[in-house]
Amino acid sequence: MRSLKALRRFYARYITASAEVVDERIVDAFANVKREHFVGAGPWHIPVIGGYIVTETDDPAVLYQDILVGLAPDRGLNNGEPSLHAKCLAAAAAQAGEVVVHVGAGTGYYTAILAQLVGQGGHVHGFEIEPDFAARAAENLARFANVTVHARSALGVRLPMAHVIYVSAGATHVPAAWLDALALGGRLVLPLTPNERLGCMLLVTRLSEAAFAARIFSTAAFIPCIGARDEQQSSAVAAALDAGSTDEVRSLRRGSEPDGSAWCIGADWWLSTAAPTE
Ligand SMILES: C[S@@+](CC[C@H](N)C(=O)[O-])C[C@H]1O[C@@H](n2cnc3c(N)ncnc32)[C@H](O)[C@@H]1O
Repeated sequence: MRSLKALRRFYARYITASAEVVDERIVDAFANVKREHFVGAGPWHIPVIGGYIVTETDDPAVLYQDILVGLAPDRGLNNGEPSLHAKCLAAAAAQAGEVVVHVGAGTGYYTAILAQLVGQGGHVHGFEIEPDFAARAAENLARFANVTVHARSALGVRLPMAHVIYVSAGATHVPAAWLDALALGGRLVLPLTPNERLGCMLLVTRLSEAAFAARIFSTAAFIPCIGARDEQQSSAVAAALDAGSTDEVRSLRRGSEPDGSAWCIGADWWLSTAAPTE
């Protein structure tokens, strides 16, 4: 007999194994959070190359696959791919008691998973710029005492100091304000997505006041992060992705002139193939 609980657990195990994620806390978080509470009533629009297909059923069982789900298909806004998020959540490594800023909370599914990971002693601030999504997220997350939904952009606002900044919309650069908001040891997980081509997932870890380790850990396609897009930096990221191996990236630099180790040069930041320095 069909059991949604069992389907959810298998889905959690399947997407984490596909993403080579071994953190059992992430498996449990995916197994515990009910996707059907966040993606609206079915039947659902499922994005495929060139458009959407509609599910034949409104049985929530269909949601427990490694598929995106349309949240507002008319605007091309979707609930993201679970296995990609499993990878991103593993990179972010949110721990119990930590403070997380989630940029692009949508209707709250991955915000809820982050809330599970930080537990009651931690807090997740979900920022969502689309007013209708922010309202849905606030409603969907009302029973999570450790979540605050901010119905506004995560740019142009003073962010709380964060152990994790988890970005779910594509930027062409690394906003200085987000680096400033990272606590020592804090992690920024950001889709770096140029206009011209497939982008990548960047993990930046603050090692000290001025030293940042950096690593690219996946390819990525995301809808644009409003306020974090710039033509020139998009071209720089596209050229870097075209030219060089993403495995070579080791640090993010700011406040210094790019040297021969530069892998990608942004406006006030650059990625280096050399180890992090102060
Ligand atoms: C790809 S959707 C993902 C939503 C959600 N994370 C999910 O997977 O269900 C990206 C979201 O980022 C939001 N967004 C874009 N730019 C933003 C910004 N500057 N601040 C806050 N939210 C933003 C969009 O409105 C959209 O809802």
